[in-house]
Amino acid sequence: MSELYVGLMSGTSLDGIDASLIDFENHKTQLIAFDYLPFSFDIRNAIQRLNEPETLISLKDYGALDTRLGHLFAEAVNSLLAKAQVPASSVLAIGSHGQTIYHAPDIQFPFSLQIGDPNIIAEKTGITTVADFRRRDIAVNGQGAPLVPAFHKAVFHHPTEHRCIVNIGGIANITVLPAYQSSKVIGFDTGPGNTLMDLWINQHRNLAYDENGDWARTGKINYDLVSYLKQDAYFSALPPKSTGKEYFSLSWLNEKIKSANYKAEDIQASLCFLTAITICEAIQKYAPLTERVLICGGGIHNVYLLELIRQNLNCPVNSTEPYGIHPDHVEAIAFAWLARQTLNHQPGNLKEVTGANKAVILGGLYRGNEAV
Ligand SMILES: Nc1ncnc2c1ncn2[C@@H]1O[C@H](COP(=O)(O)OP(=O)(O)O)[C@@H](O)[C@H]1O
Ligand SMILES: [Mg+2]
Repeated sequence: MSELYVGLMSGTSLDGIDASLIDFENHKTQLIAFDYLPFSFDIRNAIQRLNEPETLISLKDYGALDTRLGHLFAEAVNSLLAKAQVPASSVLAIGSHGQTIYHAPDIQFPFSLQIGDPNIIAEKTGITTVADFRRRDIAVNGQGAPLVPAFHKAVFHHPTEHRCIVNIGGIANITVLPAYQSSKVIGFDTGPGNTLMDLWINQHRNLAYDENGDWARTGKINYDLVSYLKQDAYFSALPPKSTGKEYFSLSWLNEKIKSANYKAEDIQASLCFLTAITICEAIQKYAPLTERVLICGGGIHNVYLLELIRQNLNCPVNSTEPYGIHPDHVEAIAFAWLARQTLNHQPGNLKEVTGANKAVILGGLYRGNEAV
């Protein structure tokens, strides 16, 4: 009997929706189909406007975008299933991460807000949908993030090799997987992944991202600037910790570089190095025994970034692909897995990672087509 789930992910990079169809039969994680639905310029702008920390958000715009994204997520599922020629009735559930519009785990009344109405997803696909994963963890005093480490542990743990998984999305996060099952898994956001590089190239060259890191490579890394940026309190804060684009924003960057007269490409090179070095230093500090680093997330396509990471670590750095999952698929599959955890009444958070006071079953459940 197959055990089919769909996972939907659209991360902080605002590039689009990743949709995966997974068969978990016999505790395997078999990819049946994958689809990517890029966001239109218009949608990206609308999300971006809500994302900006200083924007006065109209509740009407917020509500309308929640609905609009709900329809897009449902479309992504329906097109994925059509492509795979799998009927909706054979899918047990969808795990929908939603689009984060604000992540504020450290304020007096902490919250993490993801939108893309799951009522619409459940109704338009007919499939039970699990959504709003992060807030249950926050309800038990966790950061609500990162949530992928439990999945990383399930698929990438090795009995004799100390591994570290690095996901480089808009924000970068690591999962430390000691070989001994008894050791605690550590995981946290190291800081910016692609987000500052994306914002900078967008401002200066009107491009969504720096293809292969080619522009950064033409610049010169300014090590003084990187040291100064690294003085930001986030980097030295102890885990559990998580962050978002609200924090590592263009205003964060502009504030740091305000009066200096740097060349734009030197800043890009320095931002690329900042991402690389903060990942490497987090590994050296919290996972000094690491024997292999596995990379996933869009940052893996930034060839220059990967070179910088390799130069600053003394163990092999590989893509997750030869270890079972294509690096572009990991997060969307993680949310299919998290939905399965929820349906099976299993927790999805690792309390040692998020800082929660207990393991909890994550997400709200929106039932699919049921006879009434
Ligand atoms: N060919 C490439 N060269 C450099 N960077 C890339 C390339 N392809 C994707 N990226 C980076 O990956 C990001 C998307 O990564 P993704 O894992 O989807 O992040 P998120 O989870 O935040 O959506 C893009 O915004 C871009 O910065
Ligand atoms: Mg993405």
